[in-house]
Amino acid sequence: ELRTVVLGGGSFLPQRVLTNAELAQTVDTSDEWIVQRTGIQQRYIAAPGQMTSDLGLGAAKLALEDAGLEPSDIDLIVVATSTPDNTFPASAVAIQHGLGMRHGAAFDMQAVCSGFVYGMTTADAMLKAGQAKRALVIGAETFSRILDWTDRTTCVLFGDGAGAVVLEAQPASQAGERGILTSKLRSDGRHKAKLYVDGGPSSTGTVGHLRMEGKEVFKHAVGMITDVIVAVFDATGYTADDIDWFVPHQANKRIIDSSAHKLGIAPEKVVLTVNQHGNTSAASIPLALDVARKDGRIKRGDLVLLEAMGGGFTWGAVLVRW
Ligand code: ACO
Repeated sequence: ELRTVVLGGGSFLPQRVLTNAELAQTVDTSDEWIVQRTGIQQRYIAAPGQMTSDLGLGAAKLALEDAGLEPSDIDLIVVATSTPDNTFPASAVAIQHGLGMRHGAAFDMQAVCSGFVYGMTTADAMLKAGQAKRALVIGAETFSRILDWTDRTTCVLFGDGAGAVVLEAQPASQAGERGILTSKLRSDGRHKAKLYVDGGPSSTGTVGHLRMEGKEVFKHAVGMITDVIVAVFDATGYTADDIDWFVPHQANKRIIDSSAHKLGIAPEKVVLTVNQHGNTSAASIPLALDVARKDGRIKRGDLVLLEAMGGGFTWGAVLVRW
């Protein structure tokens, strides 16, 4: 029996910080409105020419360093992104090339903000099936490129960045208690028009802008998130009290607070980075994981609950013994 153990992680942000105050100079908004409705204070914006694969490669290198591994040790790369460098090939192969790898397999995963949870789940299944030995799961986004910077209802919410983890298939005897314990994925395409990018290769042939019915997303978010986490608790026998760290997708502080409250997860266990990063879609969870590991919160043996919900809608949760 194989277990999927997390060996390390890393994250990479562009240098440029865009504050709420700066945004208020270009669209009709205010720091007060953005902070009160979302908890966001600032976000990072990729430099001209800096692409999703560049951010993902930065995170991947740091994750390998953290795990004490070389690119030659990796044989699977899964990149969760909705903002790939190109329609094709996958940004994952650009990262593979950037790492100097010619072996293994690399592909992208599209589940919008749930992409990292989908990517972890997919890599976990492949590792346990013996398809690969060690995987890089990367969430990388440049949402700044698909925002309508004249639309104050969306442009204030998102940012760019990347995070990565290294996973290894280990015999249960070696892994002990560690590893991915369970994961649950969900989607419901009835909601596909509530959060989307207009245009695309098969519709208009162009890349459009992100469109969102924010209130509709908000209305569904907490229920979907809590339902899928309850499914994770039911499958494992763990409860909210057993969780050491709750690392949710960072879209909106109010959604995160409501979800934690409804589940009975204590506020001090919630890792919150949306204030610093904004919503970085598939990158938000690995970015938050890296912050909480580097500042000493997440330690070996901790029980960590990951959760995301996003366009589609897609949603899901992963429970990991770190
Ligand atoms: N600055 C100032 N005013 C604004 C802004 C802004 N940036 N944006 C909207 N407003 C105005 C609206 O026009 C509206 O004005 P009106 O009452 O005169 O019509 C008023 O503020 C209230 O707008 P609402 O949309 O009702 O505000 P709400 O409290 O719902 O907050 C928000 C909006 C923050 C988008 C919220 O609905 C939300 O967070 N939704 C979830 C979005 C989300 O999490 N998306 C990501 C999940 S999936 C993924 O990550 C890809």
